[in-house]
Amino acid sequence: MELALYHPEHGYYERDCSVVGQRGDFYTSVSVGELFGQMLAFQFASWLDECQTRNAECGASDIPLQIVEAGAHDGQLAEDILFWLQRRHPDLFARIEYWILDPSPRRQEWQRRRLSMFAPRVKWFANWGEVQQAGGVTGIIFANELLDAFPVHRLAWNAAEQRWNEWGVRAMADRFLWTRLPELHANVTALAEPAAALSTLDAAVRASAWTSLAPVLPDGFVLECAPFAELWWNIAALSLRRGKLLTFDYGHTTSDAINPTKPHGTLRAYRDHQLVDDILAAPGEQDITAHVNFAAVTHAGERAGLTTVELTEQSRYLTRIAQRTMQQPAVFGEWTRERGRQFQTLSHPDHLGRSFSVLVQERA
Ligand SMILES: C[S@@+](CC[C@H](N)C(=O)[O-])C[C@H]1O[C@@H](n2cnc3c(N)ncnc32)[C@H](O)[C@@H]1O
Repeated sequence: MELALYHPEHGYYERDCSVVGQRGDFYTSVSVGELFGQMLAFQFASWLDECQTRNAECGASDIPLQIVEAGAHDGQLAEDILFWLQRRHPDLFARIEYWILDPSPRRQEWQRRRLSMFAPRVKWFANWGEVQQAGGVTGIIFANELLDAFPVHRLAWNAAEQRWNEWGVRAMADRFLWTRLPELHANVTALAEPAAALSTLDAAVRASAWTSLAPVLPDGFVLECAPFAELWWNIAALSLRRGKLLTFDYGHTTSDAINPTKPHGTLRAYRDHQLVDDILAAPGEQDITAHVNFAAVTHAGERAGLTTVELTEQSRYLTRIAQRTMQQPAVFGEWTRERGRQFQTLSHPDHLGRSFSVLVQERA
C-alpha cells in the first residue's frame, strides 16, 4: 500500500494531481466546492481568536498563530480557506501563517503553484521534526481524508488456533497475490496487547468485549490495523502547543470494526468512481483506502495529553457551523443557491454527511 500510493515515481498520489474530484477516481468534501473550506475557515477564525485570548491571559500575546494542513494534495482546500480569510477576516489573515505538511516534493510543487498569490503567508514542512524545530504549533492542525490514506496491516482471524494471521502480498509473474504470512509484522506485534495482536483495540474491547467476541468470530474474519495513522496522530498531538487538532475521515470505532456480520474488513480500491474488486490490481493507478479506527486515533491523541472535544458525524458538525454562519451574515456572506447545493452534498446522509466523521481534540 505504501509503494502503490507513495512510490516517488509510480505511486498513485505522486502521478497526477487530478485523481481527486470529478475527473479523478473519487470525490472528497473539497471537490464538492469551496463551501467546505469556507465553513472551516469560519470555524478556524473563532478558534484562533480563542487561542489568541488564552495566549494573552498567559502573557504570551506575541506568540504567532498557525493553521497547519496535512494531506493538502493539490492545495485546493488551502486556497479555499486562505481566500475566505483574506476577504472576510483580513486582520486575522495578516496575523497567521498557513503551514502545509507534506513529505512529497512533487505535491509541494503543485501546492506552491496554486498558492502563489498567498506566498508570504504559506510555509512548507516535510515532516513533524521540521515543525517541532520551528517551535511547534499554536493554533490548528487539521486534515481531510488523510488518515484513511495511510498504509494498513491486514489481519485474518485463525479460528482453529484462536489467533491472528497477517495477510502479505506476493509477486508472481505479472501480478500480485495475497499470501498468509507465518508471523505478524513487527509493526503489529510491537504494539500488541495481551488480548490480541492489534494496536487498534481500544481499552473497552481489550477488557471485556474481546473475550466474548473471539470465540464467535468466523474463520478468516478480516480486520485492518493502522499503526502509522495512530503514530502520525500521536506526533501531531505532541506538536500542538495550544489549540485544536482535527480530522475528517470515514471510519468506525473498535466495536464496529469487530463485527462478526461484517467479516471482510474495510480495505478498498477505487478507480473512475467505482469500487474495484481486486485491490492488488494496477498498483499506482487506483486509490487504496481503509476505514480509520477513531477509538485508536482518539487514544493516540489523549496519550499525548490532548482532551477530546468531540467525535461526531460530518453532517452534524457542518450543520452547527452553518447555523452560526446564518447568525453572522455580514461575516460569512449570503447563503446562495450554490452554497445550499454544496451544503446538501456535504451533509446529506446519502452523500458525505453520514459516512464521514470529525474528531476534534484540544490542548487548552
Ligand atoms: C485522500 S487524499 C485527500 C486530499 C485532500 N485533503 C482532499 O480532501 O481532497 C490524501 C492526501 O494525503 C497525502 N498524504 C499521504 N501521506 C501523507 C503524509 N504523511 N503527510 C502529508 N500528506 C500525506 C496524499 O498524498 C494525498 O494527497
